[in-house]
Order: sequence, then C-alpha cells, then structure tokens
Amino acid sequence: LAMLVGPKPLAGQRVLITAGGTVERIDPVRYITNDSSGKMGFAIAEAARDQGADVTLVCGRTDAAAPGGVKVVKAESAAEMHDEVMKRLPETDIVFKAAAVADYRPLRKSEHKMKKTSAELSLELVRNPDILQAIGEWKEAGGGGPFVVGFAAETTELEKHALDKLQRKKCDLIVANDVAAEGAGFGLETNIVSVYGARGFAEHLPRMTKRAVAERLLNIVRELKEGMEK
Ligand code: CTP
Ligand code: CA
Repeated sequence: LAMLVGPKPLAGQRVLITAGGTVERIDPVRYITNDSSGKMGFAIAEAARDQGADVTLVCGRTDAAAPGGVKVVKAESAAEMHDEVMKRLPETDIVFKAAAVADYRPLRKSEHKMKKTSAELSLELVRNPDILQAIGEWKEAGGGGPFVVGFAAETTELEKHALDKLQRKKCDLIVANDVAAEGAGFGLETNIVSVYGARGFAEHLPRMTKRAVAERLLNIVRELKEGMEK
C-alpha cells in the first residue's frame, strides 16, 4: 500500500528496460544463449513502475514471468531486440540495458531439426549487432535522446572493463557486477554492483537485494539527469 500512495518521482518518465538472455537459434529445437535470469531487469521494471514511470520491458529468455503493470515486448534474438529497442528510442527518456545479449549467432539457421550424421560438427558464428553501441551512435547523430544505462558483467578487472565499456559504448552510466563474487550475479536475489558515470561519478554498493539496487540506480539516474538538464 505504501508503494501505491507513496511519492511518484518518475511520473511522466518513459523507461525502457531490456532483460534476460537473447536466444540465437541453431535449428527449431536448439539455440545458443547467455546466462541471465532476468531478475535484475525485472527488479528495475518493478521499482520504476512503483515510482510512477511508464515502463516498457523488452524481454529475451527469462526464468520467470515479467512483473505486472508494465508493457512487455518479446524479443528472441539480439537482432530482434535491436529492432524493438531502436524503434522506441524517440519516445524513451531512460534506457536500462540489463539484457545479456549473445555476442554471436549461428551464420546459418537450419529450418529443420538437424540430424546427427558426422562425428564432428562445427558451428559457424557471426557477430551480432551491439545494441548499446547503436543507441550511443543514434544519440550522437541526433544530438539528444534518452539517458542510457549499460551493464557490464565481468569476472576479472571489473573497474577497468566497466570504464572501457562506458566510454566505448557512450553510455551515461554503467552498472558493473562481478559475477564471480559471492552474493552477486545470475539467478540470485542479491547483487553487488559498482556504478560509474560518464562525468566521473562512481559509487560502490554493498551486497543488496536486486530490488534495493534497482531503487538506488533509479535515484542515481534521476540525480544525474537533473544535473544534466540544469
Ligand atoms: N550489449 C548490447 N548488445 C550486444 C552486446 C552487449 O547491447 N550485442 C550490452 C549489454 O546489454 C550490456 C553491455 O552491452 O548492457 C555490456 O555487455 P557485455 O557483454 O559486458 O559487453 P561486450 O561489449 O559484449 O564485451 P565482452 O562480452 O567482450 O566483454
Ligand atoms: Ca558480450
């Protein structure tokens, strides 16, 4: 009830969130995917919804159903997710790219279930579009666009890789998590993240529930966005 009657600091804000892993088909019964339960993206969607935002969730493969009260768009592959995200950018104020996008997809997708014939099988893979990078380029070309939050799941040199991705993908903020750390990462209810902003912002959060991380992220975004608009 407190959530229903509480303050709505994100009223009027259109928030787009990607969540889950993309699915890259090999044939009708097989695919390549990335580890991702979708929980972090769902937690952000719920928190943004409760703060009054108009939320669209672009979902790949996830472990659970998406939360209620948000618009859900299904996107199986990275290519589909790219198209669903790009066409919504003109009507979006904040983007969270929490999805685990497969970096590669099979060059060829078999229309029928593949039969085991040879002793060895090689799959030829090609690079997928980088959605976050495409958003950064779209913003640069048009001189505007949404506030963009990227994610970086790392197992080594967290800060170095996160800062590199922040710059390379031209995000406003990057949320880095050490997926090898205890109490962080895939499938868990808690996460441990560090947040880095394009203008030198840095904050290391302790182990918190994904919902609490989501609320802190939304507050950081609001503060930084207000600073930019001044
Ligand atoms: N991302 C994306 N499109 C891709 C790959 C990644 O939009 N094709 C986004 C992810 O959703 C995430 C961020 O980019 O917000 C970082 O993803 P990550 O896999 O950590 O970065 P990569 O650039 O793919 O680098 P690498 O996997 O080599 O570490
Ligand atoms: Ca990647």
